[in-house]
Amino acid sequence: MEKLRPLDEDISPCLCPVDGRHGTPSAGRKTGEMSPSSGRSSVSPSNCVSAPSIKTRECASVPGTEIQHVSFFFVLQLEGKKERGGSGGLNKLCGVSLKYKPSKGNRLCQGLRKICNRVYSSSSAQKSTSCPNVSIVVRKILEQAQQNDVRIGAKLVRLHFHDCFVDGCDGSILLDNADGIQSEKDALPNINSAAGFDVVDDIKTALENVCPGVVSCADILALASQISVTLGGGPSWEVPLGRRDSRTANPAGANSDLPGPFESLSNVTSKFDNKGLDSTDLVALSGAHTFGRAKCSSFSPRLYSFSNTGNPDPSMDPAYRDTLRQTCPQGGNADTLANLDPSSPDGFDNDYFTNLQSNRGLLQTDQELFSTSGADTVAIVNRFGNSQSEFFDAFVQSMIKMGNISPLTGNNGEIRADCKRVN
Ligand code: HEM
Repeated sequence: MEKLRPLDEDISPCLCPVDGRHGTPSAGRKTGEMSPSSGRSSVSPSNCVSAPSIKTRECASVPGTEIQHVSFFFVLQLEGKKERGGSGGLNKLCGVSLKYKPSKGNRLCQGLRKICNRVYSSSSAQKSTSCPNVSIVVRKILEQAQQNDVRIGAKLVRLHFHDCFVDGCDGSILLDNADGIQSEKDALPNINSAAGFDVVDDIKTALENVCPGVVSCADILALASQISVTLGGGPSWEVPLGRRDSRTANPAGANSDLPGPFESLSNVTSKFDNKGLDSTDLVALSGAHTFGRAKCSSFSPRLYSFSNTGNPDPSMDPAYRDTLRQTCPQGGNADTLANLDPSSPDGFDNDYFTNLQSNRGLLQTDQELFSTSGADTVAIVNRFGNSQSEFFDAFVQSMIKMGNISPLTGNNGEIRADCKRVN
């Protein structure tokens, strides 16, 4: 008789999917697992943001979303066939996935009950940590915001990146200056550049109305990023949730850890490496520059005096350079915007990579991925340029990886009531 697998293998983590469009989560799958090797911890059930909006066949009949109902929610897999177990049916909300071989019903049920009780017995797990329709609420607000600002999705994806690279995905970028808080918004990579904060506030207000104190600001950034990418025509994925918000900000960290547009590929690579992200992650995530804008100041030295040589960047297509010179004349307004992806500025696709292949990358750091001879990133750019689906698949994996950078969990941090200030 096959033994139940150890708990830590069998428990689906409580970074639960909020959206079932990507299919039924399978037993033992660890959607949002934090790798111990990177010093990240597993997320306890108390951090789970529930998935009541899951539309999968198995989840349709879930009667409740409160954690206290969970102890009997489990998946039974018998000879590859899924059955419903316990009184609650299958629930991916902190669901416990168990594999079992045929056994006497009662004994099995007792065993499951014991295990489930062990998992959910902590007092914090009794608190409600669910928020029905969280992704629907966020999506609605983003759709509305997009009507006034076609760039809002790009802004939010960038905020998530700038959040995660500074002490982990903890919503720290959203904090305003206050007593004891020096805002990251004033750090060099963000000041007069990072945007979308008002829409984050709108989302927070809407979520606090429907389920107060449940969804963190850090999770809002992760979720809003996924929905923005999807709305732009990109892939959809299950967003691991359960992050908590910081009580501090770190502008010095923003200055040191976020890469700038004039850095060498080796610098950028090592900044990603410091966060546990490899070259494939770097190239895939840079693909977020398939939408959004950059200011002339972020790239115009390439047009006129690249690295103070007095000559333009030789790795830029001359026709593209001429067009950009019209947008950004020498001595002109440094804040004028240009499209990061000249061929499909607002769509999420793999044009960013085909642009790089024809030397039409806007930022120096973009073009370097393709134009640095001998770099391992060249082949990856070619792979994504030649196949949009390979890019999409890699992008999803890397976004989940980036979203898992050092989250605050358990009793660390808080769920901010207002993303701009600590509670
Ligand atoms: C590889 C290193 C990266 C560098 C050096 C970099 C740098 C920049 C710069 C300079 C801008 C324009 C800012 C401005 O001019 O105001 C920008 C925009 C943007 N970045 Fe990056 N970025 C990098 C990676 C990423 C990653 C990993 C993501 C997300 C996964 C991302 C998402 C975006 C988006 C969506 C925009 C457009 C934002 C808007 O329209 O407001 N970037 N980036």
